Amino acid sequence: MLKRLALLYFIGVFFACKTTRNQAKMSPEPYRPNFHFTPPSMWMNDPNGMVFFEGEYHLFYQYYPGSTVWGPMHWGHAVSRDLVHWEHLPIALYPDSLGLIFSGSAVVDWNNTSGFGQNGKPPLVAIFTQHLMEGEKAGRHDFQYQSIAYSNDRGRTWTKYRGNPVIPNTEHIHDFRDPKVIWNEESQKWLMVFAAKDQVKFWSSPDLKHWTHLSDFGKEWGAHGGVWECPDFFPMTVAGTNQKKWVLLQSLNPGSPNGGSGTQYFIGDFDGKTFSLDPACKESVSDGKALWLDWGRDNYAGVTWSDIPKPDGRRLFLGWMSNWDYAMLVPTKNWRSAMTIPRELTLEKTSAGLRVFSQPARELKRMRKGSYNIERQEVNENLDISQKSGFSPANMEVELEIEIPEGAKTTFGLVLANTKGETYRVGFDAVKNEFFSDRTHAGQRDFSKNFAEKIHTATRPGSQQTIKLHLFFDVASCELFADDGAVSMTDIFFPSENFERIGIFAENGSARVVSGKVYQLQGR
Ligand code: FRU
Repeated sequence: MLKRLALLYFIGVFFACKTTRNQAKMSPEPYRPNFHFTPPSMWMNDPNGMVFFEGEYHLFYQYYPGSTVWGPMHWGHAVSRDLVHWEHLPIALYPDSLGLIFSGSAVVDWNNTSGFGQNGKPPLVAIFTQHLMEGEKAGRHDFQYQSIAYSNDRGRTWTKYRGNPVIPNTEHIHDFRDPKVIWNEESQKWLMVFAAKDQVKFWSSPDLKHWTHLSDFGKEWGAHGGVWECPDFFPMTVAGTNQKKWVLLQSLNPGSPNGGSGTQYFIGDFDGKTFSLDPACKESVSDGKALWLDWGRDNYAGVTWSDIPKPDGRRLFLGWMSNWDYAMLVPTKNWRSAMTIPRELTLEKTSAGLRVFSQPARELKRMRKGSYNIERQEVNENLDISQKSGFSPANMEVELEIEIPEGAKTTFGLVLANTKGETYRVGFDAVKNEFFSDRTHAGQRDFSKNFAEKIHTATRPGSQQTIKLHLFFDVASCELFADDGAVSMTDIFFPSENFERIGIFAENGSARVVSGKVYQLQGR
């Protein structure tokens, strides 16, 4: 109670101050983010077909142009040259007699193995699941299968392959979807991973048309609280070494640590046929335990871009910033859902073994318009940032390094507030050794009982004295990258009036700001 009173005081003092700054209430399109990708209108879910080709990052996505709730799936399409600005393009793939167009991937067929190329130029090939509604309604189990399509004009128009489906569902597995394909340098063949109920299947092909089953993985490992969907599989080099490992990303719904949809991962070796877990990873993914890519509730079905040029070499990732628990109920009007910011994944050695870290893609630095330094100081209650910097947390990046005195029981973090007394809090609890994201008082929440019933938490894996928080706030979302990406947490929220106030808070003790920087980011 005391804490909330202190907070209300903080909010009151701020809003009592006469500022010349325009205290934006709600924009004509409430909750439309400034720098996150959203569809122009209507329903969006998973990112699909992410591929880099001729200077463009392609982002296709699960799209229903007929409504703001899920419906017959198409692939929407956008391109970007810098991962910041996105150009919307016409719908790329429409449903056909074989079914709706579910999630999948795209590759550049550099050697024209498929024969789809023209005039010596490599084609783009999309590999996706088709879902036959009629089959599902008839109670059959073979209504999902894998199909392909190709483009010879930089992804602007697509032709479906006449031999579809390229992988029929002969085993009659109800959930049989979301193919992700890469070129496997070692075997000089295409490698596909897709989800089949509670495991993944690996298939191989010389030409993207003819596929052979290699192996299955996962029945006995990791979290199984829901159906497996949208896997991704790729080699990574352990940071600072030449050691190569393979990483499997695996979304599942429900079953994530803070509820609903989430993405786990596995680390191991691939011999061209079978994926075997790294011995050190086994312990972390046995008996239902899992390694989680993100501990918030709003990063799902994320996968990585294909064909990032070798000299760049990054593993760039993007996820759907929502959760099936409430995605169709969130209070946006003309569209539903945003994507996370693009992130770079790295494989790091930690005391607990190898771990996948997430960091914002460096391109996002270009969004910075102005910066404000937070001086080294002790915070005991609340330290205002917005008033001092003149920046709005509706559009902000924060970098903070904090130390808490030995043995202190401090909880500290950032608090966003508006004149309605609504708050969003994100930070670290020293007693529990947990990062947390608290949207329980952040505005609209009654649209779903699953939305804001509890504070989301993630145990801090490291024990460095300095705790690092790197955050992105964008009208209706927060993405936290803690301790250089060891923990990430992504959450959305819906204040009934924009959060215009941000401060650092410390409770039950003090926190020392070692360094801090706030950036105002470019708007729409
Ligand atoms: C994941 C998912 C995929 C499927 C798609 C349908 O969010 O359920 O498994 O392909 O969405 O839109």
